[in-house]
Amino acid sequence: MSQAAPSQALAFDLLAPQVAQNPHPLYHSLRAQQPIHWSPQLHGWVLTRHADISQALKDPRLAAGPMTMQFERLPEEARKQLTPLRDSVSMWMGHTTTEGHLRFQSLLKRYFTPRTVEDFRPRIQALTDTLLDAAGAKGTLDLVKELAVPLPSRVMAEMLGVPLTDEHMLRRWSRDLASIFGTVDFQQLLQSQKSVTEMMDYMRGVFARYSRAPGDNILEVFLRAQAEGLVNEEEILANCVLLLFAGHETTARLISRGMTLLFDNPEQLALLRQDPSLIPQAVEEMLRYGDIVPMITRLTVAPVELAGQAMQPSQTVYLILAAANRDPSIFTEPDQFDVTRKPGKHVAFGYGSFYCLGAALARLEGQVFFETLLRRFPGVRPAQGTSPTWGLRPPLGRDLLTLPVEL
Ligand code: HEM
Repeated sequence: MSQAAPSQALAFDLLAPQVAQNPHPLYHSLRAQQPIHWSPQLHGWVLTRHADISQALKDPRLAAGPMTMQFERLPEEARKQLTPLRDSVSMWMGHTTTEGHLRFQSLLKRYFTPRTVEDFRPRIQALTDTLLDAAGAKGTLDLVKELAVPLPSRVMAEMLGVPLTDEHMLRRWSRDLASIFGTVDFQQLLQSQKSVTEMMDYMRGVFARYSRAPGDNILEVFLRAQAEGLVNEEEILANCVLLLFAGHETTARLISRGMTLLFDNPEQLALLRQDPSLIPQAVEEMLRYGDIVPMITRLTVAPVELAGQAMQPSQTVYLILAAANRDPSIFTEPDQFDVTRKPGKHVAFGYGSFYCLGAALARLEGQVFFETLLRRFPGVRPAQGTSPTWGLRPPLGRDLLTLPVEL
């Protein structure tokens, strides 16, 4: 077993500009040469093999939710000012204690099974149709802003009992929240804190109104659990914020990134037009290939040995899901986007105890969106004379900002 010696030379530059554009050549080199790599730039271990990442995700010595760790790197005064944000995040399922995590999982899992989520299909279909009616009337539009972002935001709004007229606020809050992942920029964190506080206050009102006049949404589940003494109101509100955020940004990325993949691979788009029954498989391939959540992090809470590498306690471990999803030992021709690929063991939704709660919902939204778009607008194409624009989401992530299309 080699000793943990976080001192290797900078052989792999994870922050190079070309890596942000396309990290996969670097991931392939890392996987082949140093699958468990100490990055001085990220100050943590970087894992790229599917087998190691799957094993790490089953290992309780690698704790989830070390996001609040970044607060520790701030000066004391800044940390103090960010206490409300930290307190709220530490109540999110997955960022709380194991007991709290299991409690919320058992509460919410029933609401998000493939079968329960299927009941929501008519609503997702109606929301998709409304957005596509408006899009069709325009002809040319930005798919990110006018379809990919509003669809999951409206779905989550409905699930949380938020009137659609207030959905624009959810979107703003959710955007601000995105910056708490992987940033130590104090001003950005303050802005995130403002949005988290506003959203919790807003949800407090929704919840109070709802308690007087129940309906059919997640708040019903929370209300019952509160009556049984299983959760308190602050935990409920914090987890509404989590659900909104987790269910929105990611699914918006699946839709917009999925569309660019179809445009970049016209023969694959043609296959889907000919045979829409391939759409569920195509959505799986978008999840595998599209780097939707490129990486997640863990914190070692005890000495760990993984694939012969010793790790000390309190070290950050970056699990590069995007690299695992192109591991040639699992996926043949991993760099090919192939909608006919038999769905394999991709880890786009994570794995193990923290497996994505909303996986079935995200899949359903992706399937309904692409099926409806290609049925109603089979000629959808990139708008003439335009190209998509991208923004960086450090470290190692990038987001599609605009995608002009013609229907
Ligand atoms: C394409 C869309 C999505 C992707 C790629 C995605 C990805 C992920 C990943 C990778 C994790 C694991 C995080 C970790 O282990 O640290 C996760 C967890 C989670 N996701 Fe998703 N997600 C998506 C959509 C959604 C939706 C729609 C919801 C809303 C219900 C949601 C709610 C959650 C929650 C609550 C967790 C934490 C689960 C736990 O701690 O037990 N996600 N997601």
